[in-house]
Amino acid sequence: MTYTWIDHTYDVVVVGAGGSGLRAALGSAEAGLKTACVTKVFPTRSHTVAAQGGIAASLKNMGPDDWRWHMYDTVKGSDWLGDQDAIEYLVREAPAAVYELEHYGVPFSRTEEGKIYQRPFGGHMQNFGEGPPVQRTCAAADRTGHAILHTLYGQCVKQDTEFFIEYFALDLIMDDDGVCRGITALKMDDGTLHRFRAQKVVLATGGYGRAFFSCTSAHTCTGDGNAMVLRAGLPLQDMEFVQFHPTGIYGAGCLITEGARGEGGILRNSEGERFMERYAPNAKDLASRDVVSRCMAMEIREGRGVGEHKDHIYLHLDHLDPAVLHQRLPGISESAKIFAGVDVTKEPIPVLPTVHYNMGGIPTNYHGEVLTLKDGDPDAIVEGLYAVGEAACVSVHGANRLGSNSLIDLVVFGRATGLRLGATTEAGASQPEFTESTGENTLTRLDKYRNASGGTPTADLRLQMQKAMQANCAVFRTGEILSEGVEAIKEVYKGIPDIAVSDRGMIWNTDLMETLEFDNLIAQAAVTVNGAVNRTESRGAHAREDFSDRDDDNWMKHTLAWCDELGNVTIDYRPVHSYTMSNDIEYIKPKARVY
Ligand code: FUM
Repeated sequence: MTYTWIDHTYDVVVVGAGGSGLRAALGSAEAGLKTACVTKVFPTRSHTVAAQGGIAASLKNMGPDDWRWHMYDTVKGSDWLGDQDAIEYLVREAPAAVYELEHYGVPFSRTEEGKIYQRPFGGHMQNFGEGPPVQRTCAAADRTGHAILHTLYGQCVKQDTEFFIEYFALDLIMDDDGVCRGITALKMDDGTLHRFRAQKVVLATGGYGRAFFSCTSAHTCTGDGNAMVLRAGLPLQDMEFVQFHPTGIYGAGCLITEGARGEGGILRNSEGERFMERYAPNAKDLASRDVVSRCMAMEIREGRGVGEHKDHIYLHLDHLDPAVLHQRLPGISESAKIFAGVDVTKEPIPVLPTVHYNMGGIPTNYHGEVLTLKDGDPDAIVEGLYAVGEAACVSVHGANRLGSNSLIDLVVFGRATGLRLGATTEAGASQPEFTESTGENTLTRLDKYRNASGGTPTADLRLQMQKAMQANCAVFRTGEILSEGVEAIKEVYKGIPDIAVSDRGMIWNTDLMETLEFDNLIAQAAVTVNGAVNRTESRGAHAREDFSDRDDDNWMKHTLAWCDELGNVTIDYRPVHSYTMSNDIEYIKPKARVY
């Protein structure tokens, strides 16, 4: 079978149309660069649409706040694995980024005086962590991501960004010098194959929650950009750090926003006890997510879970004013009704820690430029390649992200990337021609899976992977369980030669697309579980029962992981940036993390 390419040329190609991709594309287009946005779903269906509770910025609309407090909380939340120069950039730029969104048209909820409404969120405190909780999370009811995504899409259209919708990005096009020259993609509705030539490529492809069995992420969250990076022989960073959100709906996995606890919601065990008071006397239910998830798991393990099988926890909102629920939390009130059959004004919601966010991803600096380890330089820039959003690891979230620091990450670093693209790219500059062999690797892989005639459906292998990740790379980890996970993922790899794809066509071949997505996921599962067994300490979301302390002497460093096509993982390290961006704040020294 021969395949033909349809070629395109742009100054900048952004892959992904969630919050970070749209904000980067907007900046690029505003800078006068010919900009394409390639996305496998319609932009307003990107997973940012599901973000609920809000976006963190020290606006001080509801009481005292300071960007330095936000910085302290983010560093502490990251368990000192975040790069402090990047964290300073994030929190300093956050207020301006939120006001910019307001001016673009995001319909934020309002205070009586008409200011942007802000609610408390986990781990965000006043006075350098001393407390009390600060109201820092700007919200559009509990549909903040929805509001931001729709607004940014409108702005991109206004700036003439060209959208390639339902195009599935397949591979990076790298030249012999390691410079990124574009991407390949499959147009899903007609099966045509496309090569996009670009001076700069921005990966904004989101996380890979679907490597796990139960997650809050959309089915589309398969980390396609991360896998493109691995296939290009580049590393991913800190992939062992996977966030479990405390309040996924039991069974369904759908998100119940942390904003529910921000508005006064309380977690209770089978004895009716507000157990977080015992574990986190200051922050209580608003401790950092990794902490709350672990406490819930401990309550369940010690027999104080609720329900017939004592295997989950109750989130109570039934003591709150129904008017507040209606005004501030209408979306989760509806989700609780649909997915748990619960009227939140009268009954508690059954919840369980659920995979929610990947702290790890494609290593970048705070301009969005992708980094790799080259000739001993841990911060070597991969020319032509950028990454933003959950796909990227800047690293501002380190070992654990604070709630509402994701949406702000998307817009601050999406904007920073747009600015960098504008400053470093000449509109319309000539680009090297593609040769006949450009994209051959894509065709080989596509053709292999399209004609795969084994006996194992992709869905079976995917389920095997998801179950292994759920069981062996969870909230609590031991060397033994993780090693079993490494072996389980190897077994999944062994099944790949026997994979079965039944549809041989090219038009809307979901069988093929799911197989390509599975191929993306399995490589990320491999680097995640191998990174986790390798890191013999506990830090943030990575809680090892056999190494229960944080070990700054040996492990205050980022993991870099490469993966070959057989799933063999190689690990190296980058130092954490233990310096700030300016002299306005000093390096925040590590200390014990208590809430
Ligand atoms: O709980 C939430 O609304 C999720 C927010 C986040 O992950 O930042």
